[in-house]
Amino acid sequence: MNKLELRKAMIGKRKLIDEAKRKLKDKNIFNTVIDSKEYNDAENIFIYVSYNDEVDTHEIIKYSLKVGKKIFVPKVISKKLGMEIIEIKDFSELKKSNYGILEPETSNYAEPSVVELALIPGLAFDRNGGRLGYGGGFYDMYLKLLNTHTNKVGLCYDEQLVDRVPMEEFDVFIDSVITN
Ligand SMILES: Nc1ncnc2c1ncn2[C@@H]1O[C@H](COP(=O)(O)OP(=O)(O)OP(=O)(O)O)[C@@H](O)[C@H]1O
Ligand SMILES: [Mg+2]
Repeated sequence: MNKLELRKAMIGKRKLIDEAKRKLKDKNIFNTVIDSKEYNDAENIFIYVSYNDEVDTHEIIKYSLKVGKKIFVPKVISKKLGMEIIEIKDFSELKKSNYGILEPETSNYAEPSVVELALIPGLAFDRNGGRLGYGGGFYDMYLKLLNTHTNKVGLCYDEQLVDRVPMEEFDVFIDSVITN
């Protein structure tokens, strides 16, 4: 399958996950994240804010703020300028953007170099670190700005693990994937 076909297939597959099962999966992923060495070693964490059918990160964000982690979330500036990251101190600082995604309203952009752990969304992942997004290239652009030793960890449901994600020269490989 090419990227376009795989994207379509995975959007459909993810939508079909039953709500009760999804809640359990989210809970398992939450537990695996907060028990991981990468999480426990990191003070500064970049994490996407989940929307729609994405693996839930709202609970991870709230918990992390409670235990004193520094949380940075993405804000899309434009197709051309890509995205920036902004530190939030409370979940309530997030407001729905024009695209319906929760983002901070401020423009206090943080340096990508502060990030020790990046928790990354995706439509599909493979066991080689291959990752497929929605096709905007926003993560591919941003992940290149992180320190080379930053842990790049994808979050996905087991349904989204595939044998091979087609990777192009601008696609960034991640270090590991956490599934339920
Ligand atoms: N570093 C980059 N600089 C400029 N454009 C880029 C860069 N990386 C990717 N792109 C552009 O983004 C487009 C979409 O890339 P791709 O299909 O891999 O997105 P994706 O990985 O699914 O999306 P995302 O990264 O937002 O999750 C590509 O056609 C490419 O031209
Ligand atoms: Mg890509």
